[in-house]
Amino acid sequence: MADIPAIQIKKLAYHYSTSRIIMDKINVTVKENDFIAIIGQNGSGKTTLLKLISGLLRQSKGDIYIRGRNTREMDVAEISGEIGFSMQESDRQLFESTVYDEVAFALKHRGMNENDVKAKVEETLEAVGLLDKRDVFPLSMNRADRVKTVFASILAMGPRILMLDEPVAGQDKRGCRIIMDIIGELHRQNYTIILVTHNLGLAVEFANRIIVMKDAMVFMEGTPGEIFDRTGDLAIAKIIPPPITRLSQSLRKQIPLEKYALMPGELASKLVSLKHKSTTPPQATKLDPQLIHKNPEGAGARVGGEIRGSPPTEPPDH
Ligand SMILES: Nc1ncnc2c1ncn2[C@@H]1O[C@H](COP(=O)(O)OP(=O)(O)O)[C@@H](O)[C@H]1O
Ligand SMILES: [Mg+2]
Repeated sequence: MADIPAIQIKKLAYHYSTSRIIMDKINVTVKENDFIAIIGQNGSGKTTLLKLISGLLRQSKGDIYIRGRNTREMDVAEISGEIGFSMQESDRQLFESTVYDEVAFALKHRGMNENDVKAKVEETLEAVGLLDKRDVFPLSMNRADRVKTVFASILAMGPRILMLDEPVAGQDKRGCRIIMDIIGELHRQNYTIILVTHNLGLAVEFANRIIVMKDAMVFMEGTPGEIFDRTGDLAIAKIIPPPITRLSQSLRKQIPLEKYALMPGELASKLVSLKHKSTTPPQATKLDPQLIHKNPEGAGARVGGEIRGSPPTEPPDH
């Protein structure tokens, strides 16, 4: 089982009858317990790709395999048992009058008995931190709680793969953190996660692989480090790297950073180690003061100057 990918997409093609955009020759492999972030401009095809995987849209060519099973042989209900899909407009997935009923709906529909439904709903609400809101009307709650309700209703169906289409869009900073903490925890519990987001800071923080879509194609694919090293290609895809990466790109013009930093802590420790090198010079400097004059504008000297008195780096704005 370990060698069978969670999802394998081979030569997928699709196009909406009313749209110019044609999705063609998409190849993607998602391994078990991957955390994939899909980024790309609006209209680049992220949602369409997730809808094709979920079976809500059906491809014209190519195949999608979920744990080795071709989705052509599965109906949408079967696929939803394997892949939980929180849609971009996730409020549309809410239609019951209480949080409890929302999560219980599909379980009852599956013919599960009342006691098992109750146990499953409570377990799932507990997992997303919504047990105390079980009797509340879902659409009356804040955005974070509405997204949590959708998460609970898809988790109750028992999938091990989650596709989450912009779950933090429209969230305030706190809501964003709450939702990402839940997603991070689910990933630690071995769920495979596919997250569509415009928040590149989150993509870098959570994902082990990033897919950049452009014009309905998979334009780039790689680890966050590989993706954000390719500044030229990112510019073509009209992706602006996260602030910390941009900062390290500018710093790199002046100081010896081998790689662009992706996280504040990473940049901070690189700067500290450079400062350390510059402020605790090798013994040779003491023995031969002339060395200092040979390279007065040396990188180390400049770094020491630049970071002295700098405020601590803030995390990227989520
Ligand atoms: N239901 C639809 N009918 C026709 N065209 C659509 C439909 N949904 C999306 N499109 C078009 O397909 C392209 C990709 O859209 P989408 O997958 O929603 O992109 P993204 O999620 O990256 O913003 C866009 O050009 C969009 O206008
Ligand atoms: Mg979309």
